[in-house]
Amino acid sequence: MTATKDWLKASWDAGIDLLHPVSDRVDGDAPPPPPPVSVRAPVVVPIRSLGPAYRERIAAHLLALDDSDRYLRFGYKASDEQISRYVAQLDFERDEIFGIYNRRLELIAMAHVAFATDPEHHQCAEFGVSVLKQARGRGYGGRLFERAVIHARNEGVDMMFIHALSENTAMLKIARKAGAVVQRDGAESEAFLQLPPANLDTRMAAIIEHQFAEIDYRIKHQAKQFWDFLARMQALRTGARSARS
Ligand SMILES: CC(C)(COP(=O)(O)OP(=O)(O)OC[C@H]1O[C@@H](n2cnc3c(N)ncnc32)[C@H](O)[C@@H]1OP(=O)(O)O)[C@@H](O)C(=O)NCCC(=O)NCCS
Repeated sequence: MTATKDWLKASWDAGIDLLHPVSDRVDGDAPPPPPPVSVRAPVVVPIRSLGPAYRERIAAHLLALDDSDRYLRFGYKASDEQISRYVAQLDFERDEIFGIYNRRLELIAMAHVAFATDPEHHQCAEFGVSVLKQARGRGYGGRLFERAVIHARNEGVDMMFIHALSENTAMLKIARKAGAVVQRDGAESEAFLQLPPANLDTRMAAIIEHQFAEIDYRIKHQAKQFWDFLARMQALRTGARSARS
């Protein structure tokens, strides 16, 4: 789990970054990610729990995935209609949806922790995740998995399950790194991660992560409003100047 000093540093870095206007770059809110390295510092990123009000943004995120990513995420090449149905059926009461935002408040990564509905398997949960192409390789997928594990443990889950295609190196790496047992069955693989019971650390981590994500979101929201306002003023000024000339 990430140390408190790392949270504070990330919070500070995020705050400094928001002093710069949001550029029109289409590649997200940060410079291109460095190539994946085998050893790296812990990734600190605010992860927010999403409610039903975020269905539209969740849909926009999933619809932005191309065919091959949809295949990796859902196990089939989900059409736009199938994705819309999946989003409409998300159960925010039972399950947990986590998201990572950029400075434009676009959802660049999200995870779905689906709790088993069968009473016989009520201590099991399934993990599904997607990160937009431009935000990959920064450790977001791994962090969402860690966050999901903390939540699942706090909810009394003792087995996390991931269904992935055997070609999905990144997903299987995340699962194996966490200690999951991966069973390969041809083109498909199932990863099972046995979870220890919740403890003080998992409870504290959930509270701190929640607070950190809420503060970060509020700051990003205010910064976005500020920069949008400045952009509107700029547009008005430019319009007035060209009308005069
Ligand atoms: C799988 C996915 C979520 C990974 O997201 P990510 O944010 O890029 O993952 P991370 O940056 O946390 O990387 C996880 C590990 O995989 C490695 N990795 C990332 N991309 C890789 C690739 N293309 N090939 C091999 N390894 C890769 C990383 O180096 C990292 O290993 P490390 O911790 O030893 O450095 C993302 O690729 C994705 O959204 N794919 C489409 C949907 C999907 O496959 N979902 C999973 C099925 S539910």
